[in-house]
Amino acid sequence: MARVWKKSDWRAKPRVQMPDYIDSEALAKVEAQLGQYPPLVFAGEARRLKAALGDVSRGNAFLLQGGDCAESFAEFSADTIRDTFKVMLQMAMVLTYGAKVPVVKVGRLAGQFAKPRSAPTEVKDGVELPSYRGDIINELDFTPESRIPDPQKMLQAYTQAAATLNLVRAFSQGGFADVHKVHAWTLGFTQGDKAERYRDLADRISDTLDFMRAAGVDSDRSHTLQTVDFYTSHEALLLEYEEALCRIDSTSGLPVAGSGHMIWIGDRTRQPDGAHVEFARGVQNPIGLKCGPTTTADDLKVLMSKLNPENEAGRLTLIARFGAGSVGDHLPRLIKAVQDEGANVVWSCDPMHGNTIKSSSGYKTRPFDSVLREVQEFFAIHNAEGTIPGGVHFEMTGKDVTECTGGVRAVTDEDLSDRYHTACDPRLNASQALELAFLIAEELSSNRKDAQAAAV
Ligand code: PEP
Ligand code: CO
Repeated sequence: MARVWKKSDWRAKPRVQMPDYIDSEALAKVEAQLGQYPPLVFAGEARRLKAALGDVSRGNAFLLQGGDCAESFAEFSADTIRDTFKVMLQMAMVLTYGAKVPVVKVGRLAGQFAKPRSAPTEVKDGVELPSYRGDIINELDFTPESRIPDPQKMLQAYTQAAATLNLVRAFSQGGFADVHKVHAWTLGFTQGDKAERYRDLADRISDTLDFMRAAGVDSDRSHTLQTVDFYTSHEALLLEYEEALCRIDSTSGLPVAGSGHMIWIGDRTRQPDGAHVEFARGVQNPIGLKCGPTTTADDLKVLMSKLNPENEAGRLTLIARFGAGSVGDHLPRLIKAVQDEGANVVWSCDPMHGNTIKSSSGYKTRPFDSVLREVQEFFAIHNAEGTIPGGVHFEMTGKDVTECTGGVRAVTDEDLSDRYHTACDPRLNASQALELAFLIAEELSSNRKDAQAAAV
């Protein structure tokens, strides 16, 4: 039965967090232009990611999703992309080797440009201006002109996303991600005992590869070891952009979001009858849904039936973001809602968005200890409930920034001003991200041992 859904149906629904473009003619021109451009991703790739997430939902793989809070036009460079890619490969290696699970790698990149904001305006020194909403919409500079939404920016975002994806595809398939290069992914500035531990782990992997070669297993020509599947994702917030890149998959005849492999719905735009849910429900990509302290069990049930009516494994990832100390207040009731419905979902933990505070030095930051604690609470609750902690979702960068406090290299409140580059929320730096990967690998391998012990 053909599905009754059109990519423009969201326009009839209440919308929040989207700009009001002043020049509707200019907007229509951009939409028409984007509509003629090639999609950035293809339906077969989105389906492959969905199958991989299906494995995650069954506990046979682990999801690692990470990248910038907001990609920026100004910070766009091959080095930035390479460093994020490197740190994700390192984290995936730590998880694969330490926890003995395949890792599904999904970047918050090649489209992560539009931002929901907690307030529509921002006040500085008594001057009130519309909030910055991401480089695809307006500009960060605090001037009235910069904050006017400009549809042309969608074209620049598309171009940047295409160039980013092109580089990521080259890195994934062109030799850079070859496991024989496990040492080469180390970033120069990562120090401390976790960097040391990573080098030890890389040595052990190299030894294993040498052994395989000596034993006659030709790992040098193994496609699986030489390449990596790396997917893209972003919050599908700016629906004009999403609609313009939506395509019909020629194989299945079904609509697919061509803007990224996975798209997610944010905590502020998940109204069951709202525009964002309406758009996401109609495309066949894997969908993420942020779940926060205000998500009710009833809303979640409605959302699950709208977004995954066929209860397909890998279609829906619930991204829990409650804040350290609050996971126990919310996660159990949502797990129960999922169980009541017999729903197939991936449970992922975003320990960033519930843990943002203002530091004494005035910067928006996240204490590393809170991030870690939320991850631990997430694992502990899933273990207690007998459900599967399927993945993590981080705001992170391969750059040596000082945006989140703490970690082994102990970034302090005073250090924040040194290298605070984010266009939006504070990100983990490469050392902090690697540290978390080791801690998660330990959680996963102790779960595994518990499960094995229980099975004997
Ligand atoms: C985000 O992921 O950048 C974000 C805004 O998250 P949330 O919708 O969970 O607040
Ligand atoms: Co963010």
